[in-house]
Amino acid sequence: TEGDRTMKVQTIKVELAETLKAKPNGAHLDFGTIFTDHMFLMDYKEGEGWYDPRIVPYQSLTLDPAAIIFHYGQTVFEGLKAYITEGGEVQLFRPEKNFERLNHSNDRLCIPHIDEQFALEALKQLVEIEKDWIPTEEGTSLYIRPFIIATEPYLGVAPSKQYKLMIILSPVGAYYKEGINPVKIAVENQYVRAVLGGTGEAKTAGNYAASLMAQEVVSKDGFAQVLWLDGVEKKYIEEVGSMNVFFKINGEIITPALNGSILQGVTRDSVIQLLKHWGLPVVERRIAMAEIAEAYESGTLEEAFGTGTAAVISPIGQLTWEEKDLIINDGKTGEISKKLYDTLTGIQYGKVEDPFGWTVKV
Ligand code: COI
Repeated sequence: TEGDRTMKVQTIKVELAETLKAKPNGAHLDFGTIFTDHMFLMDYKEGEGWYDPRIVPYQSLTLDPAAIIFHYGQTVFEGLKAYITEGGEVQLFRPEKNFERLNHSNDRLCIPHIDEQFALEALKQLVEIEKDWIPTEEGTSLYIRPFIIATEPYLGVAPSKQYKLMIILSPVGAYYKEGINPVKIAVENQYVRAVLGGTGEAKTAGNYAASLMAQEVVSKDGFAQVLWLDGVEKKYIEEVGSMNVFFKINGEIITPALNGSILQGVTRDSVIQLLKHWGLPVVERRIAMAEIAEAYESGTLEEAFGTGTAAVISPIGQLTWEEKDLIINDGKTGEISKKLYDTLTGIQYGKVEDPFGWTVKV
């Protein structure tokens, strides 16, 4: 309801940890294995709205085993990053887009809206407290995971009357073991990730749970991820699951148009804006996998890459479809991928000018 959208100004209680954990070696960071000393929490109860915002020592939760999240997966999440500049300033990249998208996902999952501005303020306070956890090594950052879970103990299938919003932080390196080198991707022909009218556009756990099986099958053959085709005809390209995808064919850069089952990536949007800013032809449209294969055969498939917060810009060196291996740009990082990676990370780490006003200081 309208009343849920804004909350009365509340102060965030802060309880600091008595002992702090040792910080990891920034040169050997994996993705998402280490968590910082503190977390943000806030509760929701029907009739009361969101209440008790607090920053507390990172800790386990106690939940009723009947909590709706465990049974029916009513949950949403986000992913964004904090960076430290050479001058020691802490900055976030387009964080308002993530909280806006969180509310978009909330709508689809029947979860009450959060106050986006308040959530951003809470995040800034948490990151300020944890700023010593932001790694400084090239390609590293502090990954931020806001998420909401349905906590009401109830076995009926209905929207929960109680929720928890949490934000946890994790110092991370590259998402793929390949780092920033090209990854191998398998086009998925059997399973689908999402269908029109489903939850594909929402950032919700079920989409990721649905992706595991296909991923398991191909990872044995050294593929980093699968590329999902549309859930109706299994013809048109959707996304990878941890990233959106772009193809350069005959000088033109093409990405699947948002159709309701593709996640609206913040990095995807940033890449489109950057390409336009450089005067390069970029189009969002429906694109069939057969068209990619044809371009490959005729020698006009010049580059392919994925975009995501976790993945940043990830060049695709090989795409395997129906037993055929499409080796793209000799399996090497393409020119556009490299330029996008350098510019985007340059803006994020405060090394290059940010003409779009994308970064937000903490
Ligand atoms: C991200 O890029 O932040 C994501 O949420 C993708 C993934 C780690 C699930």
